[in-house]
Amino acid sequence: MNILVTGGAGYIGSYVVDLLIDKYNVIVVDDLSTGSIEAVNKKAKFYEIDICDYEKLNSVFKDNHIDGVIHFAAKLNVEESSRLPLDYYETNVAGTSNLLRCMVNNKVNSIVFSSTAAIYGERMNDDKITEEEPTAPVNNYGLSKLMGEQIIEAANKAHNINYISFRYFNVAGGRKIGWPIERFSTLIPRIISSVKNNIKLEVYGNDYPTSDGTCIRDYIHVIDLAKAHIVGLEKIMNNNDISGIYNLGSSKGFSVLEVINTTAKVLNKKVDYTITARRIGDPYFSVASSLKAKEILGWETEINNLDDIILDMWQNNQN
Ligand SMILES: NC(=O)c1ccc[n+]([C@@H]2O[C@H](COP(=O)([O-])OP(=O)(O)OC[C@H]3O[C@@H](n4cnc5c(N)ncnc54)[C@H](O)[C@@H]3O)[C@@H](O)[C@H]2O)c1
Repeated sequence: MNILVTGGAGYIGSYVVDLLIDKYNVIVVDDLSTGSIEAVNKKAKFYEIDICDYEKLNSVFKDNHIDGVIHFAAKLNVEESSRLPLDYYETNVAGTSNLLRCMVNNKVNSIVFSSTAAIYGERMNDDKITEEEPTAPVNNYGLSKLMGEQIIEAANKAHNINYISFRYFNVAGGRKIGWPIERFSTLIPRIISSVKNNIKLEVYGNDYPTSDGTCIRDYIHVIDLAKAHIVGLEKIMNNNDISGIYNLGSSKGFSVLEVINTTAKVLNKKVDYTITARRIGDPYFSVASSLKAKEILGWETEINNLDDIILDMWQNNQN
């Protein structure tokens, strides 16, 4: 079977390609805007294409008998999305629509989509987040991902496209691709980068209603996340009944200070930090309920120790 992976030269996509490659023919489409050709498994067929280019993307479908799609290609920097909103809506919304049009025109009926917990927005309670939680993204990145989900749901209804939209919580561990680790905005890469480069880490607020005042987040290892995509794709290829939205997280919460202290302990290094103002739109508690993924897909995290996630990311990002 032939599986198309968009964004397969990126951080998460390249791990998924590595997992798929022994079982499937893998076709990667990526414009290398943030990904890297070195990350693409040598056994995969690679096309340097922008997903917004319908003619070129459609020719990939015509040249390869695609059986299923995993769609990672996107822009994902929150700060950049406020400066360059149209770029974000073009790639993340129009690009996703383009991909679905190619699928419909070539009778491909299964897609796994990368969405994000960012679409839950600034919620004000400390319950674990289920997929039924209302969505309220606070930035263009989150909005564009929510729109991507909505277009896929519309294609499911109108064109019988089987789908899974995975809402990822904080992905960490493994190697960062393309962009240096310094450019990533999630906490574990930021701490690693601050230790590596001897830069003071900014902690955004310590007056939240949590035990130490800092925000609580859910961290999931990239390999656990990658495995969910294979399980999900294999399930939906034959079964539209399970199409829908699934959270992917560890279901465990750690405060920013807990992650800082764990990093200092695991690396045996000082993490220099300063408390700054809260960021607009940051929820104080963002931890997944991943029960749905467990019950319906049979997926669970295997790397459950925060120490292991941090150490792995440190060791993989020394260059
Ligand atoms: N990393 C995270 O913490 C995280 C969290 C939630 C959701 N996600 C989602 O996961 C997906 C993958 O993220 P990642 O962390 O691997 O990022 P990444 O930047 O490493 O990967 C994205 C890939 O898409 C490619 N790409 C971007 N625009 C493209 C276009 N127009 N045409 C073709 N290729 C294009 C890039 O070159 C890159 O290889 C994204 O959809 C992102 O929204 C990531």
